[in-house]
Amino acid sequence: MTERLTQLRAEFTAELAAAVTEADANALRDRWVGRKAGLITAEMKTLGKLSPEERKTAGAQLNELKTEVESGIDDLLNRFAAEREAAQLIAERIDVTLPGRRIAAGHLHPITLLRHRIEDIFVSMGYAIEDDREIETTFYNFTSLNIPDNHPARSPQDTFYLVGENESTLSLRSQTSTMQIHAMQKRRPPLRVAAPGRVFRRDTPDATHNPMFYQVEGLLVDKGITLGDLKGTVEEFVRRLFGPDTKTRFRPSYFPFVEPGAEIDYTCFKCHGDGCRVCKQSGWIEMGGSGMVHPNVLRGVNIDPEIYSGFAFGLGLDRLCALMYGLDDIRLLYENDVRFLEQFS
Ligand code: PHE
Repeated sequence: MTERLTQLRAEFTAELAAAVTEADANALRDRWVGRKAGLITAEMKTLGKLSPEERKTAGAQLNELKTEVESGIDDLLNRFAAEREAAQLIAERIDVTLPGRRIAAGHLHPITLLRHRIEDIFVSMGYAIEDDREIETTFYNFTSLNIPDNHPARSPQDTFYLVGENESTLSLRSQTSTMQIHAMQKRRPPLRVAAPGRVFRRDTPDATHNPMFYQVEGLLVDKGITLGDLKGTVEEFVRRLFGPDTKTRFRPSYFPFVEPGAEIDYTCFKCHGDGCRVCKQSGWIEMGGSGMVHPNVLRGVNIDPEIYSGFAFGLGLDRLCALMYGLDDIRLLYENDVRFLEQFS
């Protein structure tokens, strides 16, 4: 028996050394100590044939071998498990010093950014910001603004008409000046209101025109308001927007809802008046229209022009935005091309 055991031990040692995978180790366990067909189990069964004396020593030796076999296999399996874990740790290692990946968050559109800046300026000057409607009746879009029946702005070639007839015909507003009427109908002077918003004109889109664009309108009505107040306000406004050395100039102009009316220019924010590409070498940039609210407009909303006067001015955001960001085509602002919009994040 001892000899047999020595042979078995040698065989097992060799097989254990040859096992290289977990499957090998598990097969080894079945082959040696498997409950039914294990080599050692079979050997145990032969013990019955021995004399009681022999059985005792052989049984003890066999048990010893069984323990060796089991612990040999367990050790091997533990080693494989440890190796697997070590390999996994290496494979899953993260380098915490690597720079992170930036998560793409949304951001505001350049027009919205500019609008917010302008709204902040108006608010700091005591104006209420109002949102206004984009669809208007002919009354608000034209008649209440003292725009005569035969004025070309009323023509379907200039204005997007929707439905209806006469004064209640609906159209897309062609200027934020419509806000003046709503503001004065809602409040009594003294009032200061600013309204940013979209306006619509039947223009063929090109590098400087888009049928939809943004304006901001400012309106102030009180007792004793003069052209000097308009000039001072506009001057302060552009200084807050473009810097303290910005100057303005007024050129006489005509808008039916103001008298007198003027176009406002301000010194170029890029060259400060010296002349450059942005201002086409003139040193000046056109800002928009302005004027003293026409007495007919005041009368239309039951404000007595003998007691009150006011001024209004309107500026276009799109061209300003294009100039500020050096865009050579304002249509870029509305194409929603993320490659373009991402520059403003
Ligand atoms: N609404 C005019 C325009 O769109 C600008 C303007 C506003 C003029 C207020 C005078 C007063 O051109």
